[in-house]
Amino acid sequence: MNKNIAILSGDGIGPEVTAQAVKVIEAVEEVYGHSFEKTEALIGAIAIDATGEPFPIETEEVCKSSDAILFGAIGHPKYDNDPNAKVRPEQGLLKMRKNLGLFANVRPVASFEALLSLSPLKEERIKGVDFVVFRELTGGIYFGQPRGRSEDGKSAFDSCTYTEAEIQRVAHLAFKSAQNRRKKLTLVDKANVLATSRLWRQVVTEMAPQYPDVELDFMFVDNAAMQIIQYPAHFDVVLTENMFGDIITDEASVISGSLGLLASASMGSGLGLYEPIHGSYPQATGKNIANPIGAILSAAMLLEYSFDLIEESNAIKAAVNQAVQEGFLTEDLNKENAKSTTEVGDKIAELIRANRSVLEA
Ligand code: IPM
Ligand code: MN
Repeated sequence: MNKNIAILSGDGIGPEVTAQAVKVIEAVEEVYGHSFEKTEALIGAIAIDATGEPFPIETEEVCKSSDAILFGAIGHPKYDNDPNAKVRPEQGLLKMRKNLGLFANVRPVASFEALLSLSPLKEERIKGVDFVVFRELTGGIYFGQPRGRSEDGKSAFDSCTYTEAEIQRVAHLAFKSAQNRRKKLTLVDKANVLATSRLWRQVVTEMAPQYPDVELDFMFVDNAAMQIIQYPAHFDVVLTENMFGDIITDEASVISGSLGLLASASMGSGLGLYEPIHGSYPQATGKNIANPIGAILSAAMLLEYSFDLIEESNAIKAAVNQAVQEGFLTEDLNKENAKSTTEVGDKIAELIRANRSVLEA
């Protein structure tokens, strides 16, 4: 298969972890006889430094002429505490999501059997956890207008808005996912307080008869924040709006043992973007210590969702599991005997090659 992949490594540890994901994709190309053309493009703080824009038009063009996008991370501390910064790296990510129509962000959360004892949560609670969060990605308070400051600068405001159509398109994906899983969908909202949440409940309830095999329930987000820690195994598919989804998926990452393990897919009208859910982790930048598994599992999602290469995607996941089992862990999971970012990437690429030669023998 011939395909084009846009590689947007971004800021901080983005380039280091993305390089491992690319290494793993190359192993897959070699072993399974594919050829993927990879084109690098700038996004985030690094793009601001080079062009003044966090998501330059050249980058948008590279994305639009690709079959899928692999993305690293965004953000730089020099912008974080500057209330007057006019351009921010994060605007690049938001603009990319909006301009490419990536309205659904899919974040799977599962515990690794070999890491159960490393999670801060009790083993018996997290054993067998396997759920997926559908986070709406191009609406809500992240994008609503008006937003800004009053003229005297003494008050600020953001608007949370949703339309029926915005809710329906992501909800359809979540219902369909539930049909292919354990057939349970939980809508997380704050319908006891927010008008937008009440619209979510109404729209999703009206859609439910189209998916009679799916059991739909509702949970307020504050309660969900607690249940995700207390009874994580109860969840199957979670559907929620943009900001709630941002928050509860960082929280959920604790279940697997490290934020560095979680991958995500952003989808919409065709083109898919794949990224680890972690940020740019400035303190670790350039130290070769960041966990590359979230990025590598994002590459596995890319092969599955955008290219329909299920066997190849499973080969990556199997190699990741094996590396984890063999204790190839970065310092977020193993302080005593930590492997470096590149060692973990090399190991996973090597396992993909080795597993295939075993199959062929
Ligand atoms: C994420 C990130 C982004 C978000 C930031 C960097 C804008 O936290 O992808 O979860 O809030 O969506
Ligand atoms: Mn986030």
